[in-house]
Amino acid sequence: MAQLEQLEQSAAPGSEWWRTAVIYQIYPRSFADASGDGIGDLPGITSRLDDLKSLGVDAIWLSPFMTSPQKDAGYDVADYRDVDPLFGTLADFDEMLAQAHSRGIRVIVDLVPNHSSDQHAWFQEALKAAPGSPERARYVFRDGRGENGELPPNNWQSVFGGGMWERVTEADGTPGQWYLHIFDATQPDFDWTNEEVKEEFRSILRFWLDRGVDGFRVDVAHGMVKEAGLPDYAPVADADSMGGGEEYVPYWGQDGVHDIYRDWHQVLAEYDGDRALCGEAWLPTLSRTALWVRPDEMHQTFNFPYLMTPWDAQQLREVIRESLEEFGGVGAPSTWVLSNHDVVRHASRLALTADNPQGEGIGPKSEGKPDQVVGLSRARAATTLMLALPGSAYLYQGEELGLPEAMEIPDEFRQDPTWFRTNGERYGRDGCRVPLPWSADAPAFGFNDTGASWLPQPAEWATFAREVEEKDADSTLNLYRRLIELRRDRSLGTGSLVWEDAGADAVAFHRGDLHIVANLGEQPIELGEGVTFVVQSEPFAGTAVPPNAAAWFTRA
Ligand code: NOJ
Repeated sequence: MAQLEQLEQSAAPGSEWWRTAVIYQIYPRSFADASGDGIGDLPGITSRLDDLKSLGVDAIWLSPFMTSPQKDAGYDVADYRDVDPLFGTLADFDEMLAQAHSRGIRVIVDLVPNHSSDQHAWFQEALKAAPGSPERARYVFRDGRGENGELPPNNWQSVFGGGMWERVTEADGTPGQWYLHIFDATQPDFDWTNEEVKEEFRSILRFWLDRGVDGFRVDVAHGMVKEAGLPDYAPVADADSMGGGEEYVPYWGQDGVHDIYRDWHQVLAEYDGDRALCGEAWLPTLSRTALWVRPDEMHQTFNFPYLMTPWDAQQLREVIRESLEEFGGVGAPSTWVLSNHDVVRHASRLALTADNPQGEGIGPKSEGKPDQVVGLSRARAATTLMLALPGSAYLYQGEELGLPEAMEIPDEFRQDPTWFRTNGERYGRDGCRVPLPWSADAPAFGFNDTGASWLPQPAEWATFAREVEEKDADSTLNLYRRLIELRRDRSLGTGSLVWEDAGADAVAFHRGDLHIVANLGEQPIELGEGVTFVVQSEPFAGTAVPPNAAAWFTRA
């Protein structure tokens, strides 16, 4: 392969663990269920830590397990300092944390600061209090428009569908003010100009830091500050629902959010052990995304432009190049992520043949459903490429098994608020949240002992069960293990890459003597003489990388 250019791209210097870590996202309700009630829990996680150790990950991030009525699967927190009984107790959390640490696995918890549950004590107090009271000032209450305040204060539309305002009934029984909710009506937004809110969250950070967590994934880290005056705004039709689709939105990416993270940076700095903040911020460009990780703000932020990149070599080369430039420019590592609990699993997404905006999901009536074989090959190739990149990589539970999206969930099982708020127009995210298969022959595929499962598991998932994949040298699980181990042995999380030219349909580069190539085209890519493969995304003979495959190799 001729070298296109010798453009060295480096991750930033520094040895903090989060710069290079492979971080595994656990979605607690679907990981492992020790109680047998059909919803995963903290003791379930503890019981499976050895499996994560053998996968080789450096850290786990747990989606919310705090007290919650579960209207948005825990992203509606009623008590930030306790564990919901569904998931266990604080003692179960401490035990899980200690067990993870004893295995050298760090633990990041999810913090949801944009909104609380409507069952949070503060919101309940706000409902009882009068307009203009300090209780209401912790949230975004406004009088309605129209003669009798019967119209919402502005025209904003909720991410989950429908309007962004809900009207309350005042204590005297009359129709009253409206409150803002970017997401479900059960998720009222805090007012982040309020000093009490700021102080409360400093204290919540300290509560979990004192318990020993290694960091926080910060939910909706681009949404906490709204433009003053809350001006009307209508998104263009195809704007990404979580943000990221448009340059200017009065509730996404407002400058004021950065003050909050500078403040939190200081709180974390009071603690030893390189505690870290990772932002969930959906923004239209990488240059804006990089603002979240300036030296005095967050430590990491999710690289959603990378996640959203379609199976296209030119676009993928470009997003990698730009990521390293933009994050490197502010001294931060790039993160890399292909799947999470909000997007169609990449083993399905990368082979979709119709547009599928974030949050849409795939269901029985969707168009453009993927060819599963192509999807899995592309997913394995995409991960083979990703785990060779400098920076920190996030994995989402189940992708190490090659799980596809569950696309045939019957309507009556659906739980995502998106499904309800759009009257079934958008399927939402349940398809990527189905409980994991651990063994082929056990009830609920070993998710628990009882066979209960909060979302039905597709019958064909028996072939993806972890026990089955353990025994197959060529399984997706064993591919992930090999990639993670080699990534560590060769210190691929740090350093630079040098781009190579393997044709228009390839993404190719080298890291020292290790060459990486992914084939996103339709013709094999011949590598020529003297090649020794270190990893193949799936087994192939000869020296030509087939379509939808990737490889790591050395040359004589
Ligand atoms: C982003 C979370 O990842 C998603 O699952 C949730 O619905 C929204 N934020 C609201 O908290």
